[in-house]
Amino acid sequence: MNIETDITASGTFRIGGDIRIHRLGFGAMRITGPGIWGAPADQAEALRTLRRLPELGVDFIDTADSYGPDVSELLIHEVLHPYDGLLVATKGGLNRGGPDQWGIDGRPERLVEQALRSRDKLGVETIALWQLHRVDPTVPRDEQFAAVRQLFDEGVIRHAGLSEVSVDDIEQARRFFPVATVQNRYNLTDRASEDVLAYCEAHAIGFIPWYPLGAGDLARSDSPLQAVARRHGASPGQIALAWLLRRSPVMLPIPGTSKVAHLEQNVAAAAIALSDEDYASLDAMGSRG
Ligand SMILES: NC(=O)c1ccc[n+]([C@@H]2O[C@H](COP(=O)([O-])OP(=O)(O)OC[C@H]3O[C@@H](n4cnc5c(N)ncnc54)[C@H](OP(=O)(O)O)[C@@H]3O)[C@@H](O)[C@H]2O)c1
Repeated sequence: MNIETDITASGTFRIGGDIRIHRLGFGAMRITGPGIWGAPADQAEALRTLRRLPELGVDFIDTADSYGPDVSELLIHEVLHPYDGLLVATKGGLNRGGPDQWGIDGRPERLVEQALRSRDKLGVETIALWQLHRVDPTVPRDEQFAAVRQLFDEGVIRHAGLSEVSVDDIEQARRFFPVATVQNRYNLTDRASEDVLAYCEAHAIGFIPWYPLGAGDLARSDSPLQAVARRHGASPGQIALAWLLRRSPVMLPIPGTSKVAHLEQNVAAAAIALSDEDYASLDAMGSRG
């Protein structure tokens, strides 16, 4: 398996045309307990995983107030504050009732309150990137976007993004604030957001594909990517990430893990150069689902 780590090979992207990050980031949802609830089963390993991020040159971390809830943001604070050279992006707009239970709450006052709480938990004056986790269908979306505008105006956030949105949502949000990132589910075999990706590419908006490893399925030993992986002396998960990185210059994958060894493997994917032929055959396989 390829474990040469060179994060610089992922290339860089400027969030909001401003903060430069390496394109291969880290998703911090998995440093929580079962059902994304409570403390991680192996807290010492989760802390080691976070500590390893700056050593590997990973400088883009995605979290949310709902991961744990609070657990992910607080562990990030404990290990990585004051975030020298790191961009910690968080999200708000969901609420939690228990393990695997997720609700949406986009009431404007609640969005502002959640962002203020995230700012405290992360221990920053300004959140570098705050993302609306979901547009709440029970609240007029303009009211939610106006709340995000308020967060800018009050200096709570520096950049803002959206998650699980359509092109129409993004265009409407841009009437209220500059959209720096869009976070939709996307990976080699899950391509429902191609139109959103194309829009992001055209407008220099960072596209953050969640489930980049298909929640781990693409990294399994029986993955359909195994044949290409063997040719590169790589793991299937590394091939899934290498494909994403090559797919678009605005692609910012954030594979999630709670284990140092998996983190190291994922970061090593940055250095895998797929041939045109491999890229095309993966693309064709993925398009078929
Ligand atoms: N905006 C949204 O609505 C939304 C939704 C979901 C997720 N996200 C964000 O996107 C990030 C990525 O999504 P995700 O974590 O759900 O899915 P993912 O990155 O596709 O897969 C993570 C799963 O794969 C396993 N894994 C990771 N690296 C591996 C490796 N090298 N070999 C084998 N298994 C590996 C992890 O388990 P181990 O811990 O055992 O490594 C974990 O179970 C999240 O962490 C979160 O920040 C956003």
